[in-house]
Amino acid sequence: MADGLRKGLTSYGDAGFSLFLRKAFIKAMGYSDDALNRPIVGITNTHSDYNPCHGNVPQIIEAVKRGAMLAGAMPMVFPTISIAESFAFPTSMYLRNLMAMDTEEMIRAQPMDSVVVIGGCDKTLPAQIMAAVSADLPTVVIPVGPMVVGHHKGEVLGACTDCRRLWAKFRAGEIDDVEIEAVNGRLAPSVGTCMVMGTASTMACITESLGLSLPMSATIPAPHAERFRLAEASGKVAAEMARAKGPRPSELLTPAAFRNAQVVLQAIGGSTNGLIHLTAIANRTAHRIDLEAFNRIGREVPVLIDLKPSGAHYMEHFHHAGGVPRLMAQLGDLIDLDARTITGATLRDVVAGAEEVPGQDVIRARKSPIKPEGAMAVLHGNLAPRGAVIKHSAASPRLLQHTGRAVVFDSVEDMTLRVDDPDLDVNADDVLVLRNAGPKGAPGMPEAGYLPIPMKLGRAGVKDMVRISDARMSGTAFGTIVLHITPESAVGGPLALVQNGDMIRLDVANRSIDLLIDTAEFRIRQAALAPAATPDWAKRGYAHLFNETILQADEGCDFDFMRGTGPSSSG
Ligand code: FES
Repeated sequence: MADGLRKGLTSYGDAGFSLFLRKAFIKAMGYSDDALNRPIVGITNTHSDYNPCHGNVPQIIEAVKRGAMLAGAMPMVFPTISIAESFAFPTSMYLRNLMAMDTEEMIRAQPMDSVVVIGGCDKTLPAQIMAAVSADLPTVVIPVGPMVVGHHKGEVLGACTDCRRLWAKFRAGEIDDVEIEAVNGRLAPSVGTCMVMGTASTMACITESLGLSLPMSATIPAPHAERFRLAEASGKVAAEMARAKGPRPSELLTPAAFRNAQVVLQAIGGSTNGLIHLTAIANRTAHRIDLEAFNRIGREVPVLIDLKPSGAHYMEHFHHAGGVPRLMAQLGDLIDLDARTITGATLRDVVAGAEEVPGQDVIRARKSPIKPEGAMAVLHGNLAPRGAVIKHSAASPRLLQHTGRAVVFDSVEDMTLRVDDPDLDVNADDVLVLRNAGPKGAPGMPEAGYLPIPMKLGRAGVKDMVRISDARMSGTAFGTIVLHITPESAVGGPLALVQNGDMIRLDVANRSIDLLIDTAEFRIRQAALAPAATPDWAKRGYAHLFNETILQADEGCDFDFMRGTGPSSSG
């Protein structure tokens, strides 16, 4: 198979002419024949003025290029879509699959022997990995790294757990306009991704545990010099992979690798979004994530990382405590150490090199965990026949077994309009229900699952309530919140049947969520549901493709035509 500049020649019906033309045009950039005869390392540029999390990408790219050239390869940078969490309308998840398609097709369309994909802000790492897995070219993943922490009145601040906590205090009247403005300038003190165990940090840790990035790549803070040395080293590895033509993602992403990623996801107190993204990545391979197996892993694996929102610290503290290699060392036999990584080394080699940091209290030993069970549980029941997820490590223990009266919001807009209405019939023991916020319903399954506590209850001191929806939630959020109810209400899932005043029972110990109405009434309501119609927003373009082909949460919310051949369970 051709390599370097000879790969994937543009079709003019004469291969010699195609190469002649390609070289003639690229020489316009001043390249020599020596440069053009080298193996090519492609590098995705996900920098954007709309994406502050990726603010260090230009410097990362320079370091990757340096590394690739030091190792004798030719780096070629190309742009892909960049998605920033707070700048994407209607939600970043709506665009994840578009980014994955863009990156995959650009990897395929342009000549390169290996590729370095750079991502970080929530959906970008999963999108880049989904693309790399489908293109199956030797790939090195570089997360942009977490922000450093902020400070306010002697307190350490982290985006966005503290964004939410302090906003809730502002809503409750506990802090004033002047203070919330001061906080606003201190929550994100540097470029990089949210520095709590949100989705970005979760996906970076998962990527490292899958062997797709170099050790410590998940945790080095974004502005640190070490981040750029890691990028240089990643460029060198990519050059070696270009020459060796491997390992490819399909060689690294085995059932053992996916199991390791699920163990790490539970042990870090990871984001619920991590489960959707890992499912989507697996679905691009021959393997699948089995939710029941994930539940079993959750019962065996303790939460060992003391990071917000489940614990107390931030990503830079996790880094200085030894990062993912030290975590995997602490997890011991729960990790399959024979799994391979991009360098050809195994996780056994990675763990052998893990730093021992005396006195650190961020990465716990198995005998003194943060929580004895993993971060997440998958629930089933008549409300969620294909599953729902709760991050119980970040919930109120007293609410994990709870029966309450449903207070229903029909959409995100309905919730926004009514949740703070002083006349809303709601009390602290009720269950707030949000529907039509799933993959199709919203669209894009927004992070609206963290329903605000109604203002009148917040002002009366209520900090948490049971909240359930077919939406997602930011990994940075805290609360007793059931998410990803599948099938979603917009496609006729049982959430669509709930009425104000119905009783709902959450039983996390038994992994169940149920609507307490009798079967006959359930069937009557089901029969009365109107059939789903194509909404106006989905009549053309990408929106049409999205609405027609988006899969449900239990299948990773990828497009149905993007799946790899399978299945083979990876639990
Ligand atoms: Fe980009 Fe949190 S907003 S990672």
